[in-house]
Amino acid sequence: MRRPVSVAPPKGKLGVLTPGMGAVSTTFMAGVELVRRGHAVPVGSLTQLGTIRLGKRTDGRTPQIKDFVQLAKLDDIVFGGWDVFSDDAYQAAAKAGVLEAKDLAKAEKFLKGIKPMKAVFDQSYVKNLHGTHVKKGKTKFDLAEQLREDIRAFKKKNKLDRLVMVWCGSTEVFLKAEDVHKSLASFEKGMKANHPAIAPSMLYAYAAISEGVPFANGAPNLTVDIPALEEYAKAKNVAIGGKDFKTGQTLLKTVLAPAFKARMLGLNGWFSTNILGNRDGEVLDDPGSFKTKEESKLGALEYILQPALYPDLYSKIYHKVRINYYPPRGDNKEGWDNIDIFGWLGYPMQIKVDFLCRDSILAAPIVLDLALFFDLAQRAGMRGIQEWLSFYFKSPMCAKELYPEHDLFIQLMKLKNTLRWMMGEDLITHLGSEYYD
Ligand SMILES: NC(=O)c1ccc[n+]([C@@H]2O[C@H](COP(=O)([O-])OP(=O)(O)OC[C@H]3O[C@@H](n4cnc5c(N)ncnc54)[C@H](O)[C@@H]3O)[C@@H](O)[C@H]2O)c1
Repeated sequence: MRRPVSVAPPKGKLGVLTPGMGAVSTTFMAGVELVRRGHAVPVGSLTQLGTIRLGKRTDGRTPQIKDFVQLAKLDDIVFGGWDVFSDDAYQAAAKAGVLEAKDLAKAEKFLKGIKPMKAVFDQSYVKNLHGTHVKKGKTKFDLAEQLREDIRAFKKKNKLDRLVMVWCGSTEVFLKAEDVHKSLASFEKGMKANHPAIAPSMLYAYAAISEGVPFANGAPNLTVDIPALEEYAKAKNVAIGGKDFKTGQTLLKTVLAPAFKARMLGLNGWFSTNILGNRDGEVLDDPGSFKTKEESKLGALEYILQPALYPDLYSKIYHKVRINYYPPRGDNKEGWDNIDIFGWLGYPMQIKVDFLCRDSILAAPIVLDLALFFDLAQRAGMRGIQEWLSFYFKSPMCAKELYPEHDLFIQLMKLKNTLRWMMGEDLITHLGSEYYD
């Protein structure tokens, strides 16, 4: 990728569109509004709180990321979205039960003004969801055209300068890339013939790219991770990326596994289980949707530990991931990990992690960061897969010939170095020999 010659400034308003206005999306919208009004600090958001070191450690140059690369301001964000239910963002947030009534009350009027557009939805792709606020169309191509029309109308009505789309919809059933996904021509033909391997999320991605809108996928669905849409994004100069927000259990997995590998400690097994009771949990109770999530969650260890390079340490790992729908917990997921490691002379040890987390509280700042960074990438003319944003994803997309980078700290270094590179600053290699010359 060539370095951007210039990065267009973030003038005017930025529309953030989320297909899916459920727990994650409404927690994101409510949170941004509370921050804008000075009621909250954007905890968990690198774009809002993070800094970046420039030059030598002795230079004392550590600006805030949002100033260094000129990100869009929170005040300039306008929210919109689609859902299969007609609830406005206030009703949806109240039902999701993530935020307390006292917090929602502060943004009630604002959230009530955000009403979902009718969704493109088909229950064969999300078995445990029964929605009625759904578009009608003869073919998938017609439906994609309707989404394009929605995007244009939203932009016009809100007098927006730019848009980004972040998929916050439910996890669809497991799909594998096949012939129809291989090229833009076969994909467009497939849409017109209602090919079953073209899921609704792909139509949103297609519509976004068609309208020059960057697209990030927060769920593990295949969606934009197919050659046809990659080709299309390149042709239309649009930034794309995914998949699956890296929030709780996988975040910790991609911190702990690199630590074991760094110290050459072995691993025999890693058992991860979750209980959660929100709508996401209900959707994932269907084996088809669970399979999509399972694949996404399983990948990280294999790539981080590289068993082919370290057969003595990692060739016999038993890795198991379970997700159990348990309504009493709502959005407050509990993720347990039992990790069987071994050390010097093969002596076994165990680590137990019990993360009592809040799923959407962890995901909301990721939606914000992705929206702002994808907008930045687009303004910088960076097209196609944005691998530098792997930091945010459980199952990061990357070029065909590469393996994905999962280690959180490599991902962070890559992200920050990309920002330095974009702005013509020296990359930081952490060599530091100059301090001792
Ligand atoms: N919360 C987390 O920590 C986390 C982490 C990683 C990924 N995710 C993923 O993010 C997504 C959203 O999670 P959530 O907790 O907000 O779930 P949710 O069930 O509360 O919200 C998803 C919303 O998407 C809607 N929807 C489904 N299909 C749609 C379609 N085709 N068009 C428009 N709307 C559609 C549903 O009606 C629902 O309101 C899920 O796929 C989840 O797996 C969440």
